[in-house]
Amino acid sequence: MLEIGQLIEMAAGSRANAYAPYSGFAVGAVIEGGDGRCFTGCNVENLSFGLTQCAERVALASAVAAGCRDFRRLLILTGASVPTSPCGACRQVLAEFSSNLEIISVTNSGDEWRGTLGELLPRASSGIEPRIVPYGTADV
Ligand code: THU
Repeated sequence: MLEIGQLIEMAAGSRANAYAPYSGFAVGAVIEGGDGRCFTGCNVENLSFGLTQCAERVALASAVAAGCRDFRRLLILTGASVPTSPCGACRQVLAEFSSNLEIISVTNSGDEWRGTLGELLPRASSGIEPRIVPYGTADV
């Protein structure tokens, strides 16, 4: 497994590519698969605001596009004064693939918050119609 410092470096590389002309808030993320592969993402904003994609979802989509669907760690890097955590939309999208994902949020100044996706979004699928959830996988 990569050291946290290596994950931070990867996230920083992606954060440098953030497209955030509206908020000015650049975010970098790196998601690590169960097989050790890592995928990065940055936020990609849009004039419509609502179509903005967060760094976490960009990293996740990149991983899925490469065939990786099982995740163990997600690191988020921002320039905020305190560590941030994924927004509600990202939590739900991440929960599609793993509920026990470890989340590490770091700031430029080195502050850190660690938690799990299950802690941030308990009972992620409990509001979803059971018939469309594959048999045996519903977390209700
Ligand atoms: N953002 C992320 O990319 N990830 C987060 O965890 C928090 C928010 C982005 C969305 C938007 O481009 C900007 O940061 C301000 O919210």
